Amino acid sequence: MTLEQKIKTKIKEYGAISFSEFMKFALYDETEGFYAHGGAGRKKDFITSPEVGPLFGKLISQAIDKCWIEFGKPSHFTFLECGAGPGTLAKSILRSQMQCKDALKYIAVESSSQQSQTHPSTVQTLSTMPKEIEVGIIFANELLDNLPFDIFESQNDGSWLEVKITVDDENISETLIPNNEKAPPYTLETPNVRVPVQREAQKWLKDALKILHNGQIIVIDYAVESFESQQKQHWLRTYQQHEVDTHPLKDIGQSDITTDVDISQLARVVPPTSIRTQAQWLLDLGLESLVEKSKQQWKMQAHNPDLKALEARSAIGESEALTDLSGLGSFKVLEWSVKS
Ligand SMILES: C[S@@+](CC[C@H](N)C(=O)[O-])C[C@H]1O[C@@H](n2cnc3c(N)ncnc32)[C@H](O)[C@@H]1O
Repeated sequence: MTLEQKIKTKIKEYGAISFSEFMKFALYDETEGFYAHGGAGRKKDFITSPEVGPLFGKLISQAIDKCWIEFGKPSHFTFLECGAGPGTLAKSILRSQMQCKDALKYIAVESSSQQSQTHPSTVQTLSTMPKEIEVGIIFANELLDNLPFDIFESQNDGSWLEVKITVDDENISETLIPNNEKAPPYTLETPNVRVPVQREAQKWLKDALKILHNGQIIVIDYAVESFESQQKQHWLRTYQQHEVDTHPLKDIGQSDITTDVDISQLARVVPPTSIRTQAQWLLDLGLESLVEKSKQQWKMQAHNPDLKALEARSAIGESEALTDLSGLGSFKVLEWSVKS
């Protein structure tokens, strides 16, 4: 059965499905969902910070050391990367020099078995979150934008209708249905504005806060303060072979479906301890001095470059991409400090 047939069968049996249920098929169907074949990478569908090059991982390794030192250099320290994709960040982090190397356990949680096939053998790969982490970091880069969300549309009278997915004349299409129970807990003055309701992202944060006893939760993503105060168009985007679009019902299973993460919805679970742009966060982790070292290294070996010198040369460009405020640099880094 094709993916479209699976979705149509479900709708014919149970009636219109929520957008989050549709996303579960479109992205996470085991054999035909987008993540069974597509994903992050130059040869795939989109470039994330880890895919820019190894510099991002080097800086994250400094964040790991910082947290390890802050918690008294424990003999066991876990770095859990959730939504690890093909494992590119794990490879960069594990190649970096870290003070906590002997204490570090790297867990890569990835729901798609096709993605985790390329994880390095030195990490523990899991398909779901473990039950407990005594001390460490739970980290997620561009995961929350990908967790299934629902969509609601504002009406003239201040009420909301839910955007559901149905079958119309054998075509998969949208329908608007009243659903007060799950609607956003605020009203908008402007009618016909659509907003995402990100319950799975809230649940992910709740679970992470329950699992981690001491340490930090770090979430990096494209985000807005709140859809209540910031009415934004095109917060729903699809990605296919580096092309961006806004039509999730087109090429079902062939393109990624994402939303800007609504920080206010996460803050309803627990407000973040800190919110910075990725550019600022990386600078605070020592980006400038790393890039300065790379420039010196390149200068010394430019006449006869080896692999390390080429990596140093590339770090200069990577730094620009990671801090570019019209792109990755504007992503938000949300941190929650956890102490038991
Ligand atoms: C946009 S990709 C990001 C990959 C990687 N973090 C990066 O920045 O390149 C999101 C990844 O999260 C995975 N994913 C989605 N939901 C998940 C969940 N509940 N638990 C673990 N992984 C999940 C997807 O399969 C996909 O590989």
